Amino acid sequence: MARLNIALGQRSYEIAVEAGALDAVAQHIAPWTKRGRTLWVSDSNVAARHWPRIAAQLEAAGLAAALHIVPAGEQSKSWGELARLTDWLLGEGVERSDTIFALGGGMIGDLTGFAASIVKRGCEFVQLPTTLLAQVDSSVGGKTAINTAAGKNLVGAFHQPRFVLIDPQVLATLPPREMRAGYAEVVKYGLIDDAPFFDWCEAHGAEVLSGDPAALGHAIVTSVAAKARIVGEDERETKDRRALLNLGHTFGHALEADTGFGERLLHGEAVGVGMVLALQYSARRGLCAPQDAIRVAAHFKACGMPVTLREAGVTADGATLVDHMRHDKKMAGGNLPFLLARGIGQTFVAHDVDLADVAAFLDELHARPG
Ligand code: GLY
Repeated sequence: MARLNIALGQRSYEIAVEAGALDAVAQHIAPWTKRGRTLWVSDSNVAARHWPRIAAQLEAAGLAAALHIVPAGEQSKSWGELARLTDWLLGEGVERSDTIFALGGGMIGDLTGFAASIVKRGCEFVQLPTTLLAQVDSSVGGKTAINTAAGKNLVGAFHQPRFVLIDPQVLATLPPREMRAGYAEVVKYGLIDDAPFFDWCEAHGAEVLSGDPAALGHAIVTSVAAKARIVGEDERETKDRRALLNLGHTFGHALEADTGFGERLLHGEAVGVGMVLALQYSARRGLCAPQDAIRVAAHFKACGMPVTLREAGVTADGATLVDHMRHDKKMAGGNLPFLLARGIGQTFVAHDVDLADVAAFLDELHARPG
């Protein structure tokens, strides 16, 4: 069991990583159960898989439990589901001092966290993430949001959870493709500022993906510790510090937009290809050695992940892809900050990237054979 702390003054909280934690869930959440009842939010898939054993434990602990089930899938990060969830919470008589429990992947964490931030002008919530991506990234750090017609995550709030309970054992039932997509976010922490962790990923990535408990535990704890450190330094992304966590996301966002933000290219897969593109573009600008980009692509390829535009199913030309980037919420005064690298573990925020040059780079990649 690892217990990590995210230092944010009054908003500080603990992240517990423990294999089998969901089998002792009532014990773990005891500090946040008031008035003998608990309010839970989950999605249809996760609830079918995990709710019966959680409900049984809550009952055994003498806790009443009410569960709101959201349809599984990214499309539930919507105004409609937010309204249904907040109506349900109010119907249940939620009070400001209540804690809402979010059991699921990134969609559930983002939707529940946002609902918690606005109901009664702000309730507390606890994250129990059930995907690798949510465990190593979205459940920690307090970014909550829904998607709207204008784009992804454009309406939301910074609202930190009070506690995050991570049980790596729940990943045993995660589809391998989702596991690989989440793994891209693990590798990201090595690429940002921890070259030895990238070396470790190269040596142990296959074990992580096959669910080896020791490797998976190490990958999750290292990732969460990195995220907690970076968020602790720059909670609201105002100092070019938390922005490092967006490595691969600007390229990735354009790829997701081109492929419809869905099953054709999962978010984590887009981030994986996006990180390869960020390294390749950095090499093209002479910032890092071409070998660094080759090494990152080789690792993702060895893990069975897409690494090229073609493998990502992206056909749009550079100008179209760059146009998607222009709608990025990080665009400021006509300038889009880009995450580039001086090498593996040496990511930085570049404020001087010319989008026309990025478009030319993407067209060069399209023109490459193979
Ligand atoms: N996923 C990026 C962040 O939490 O800042």
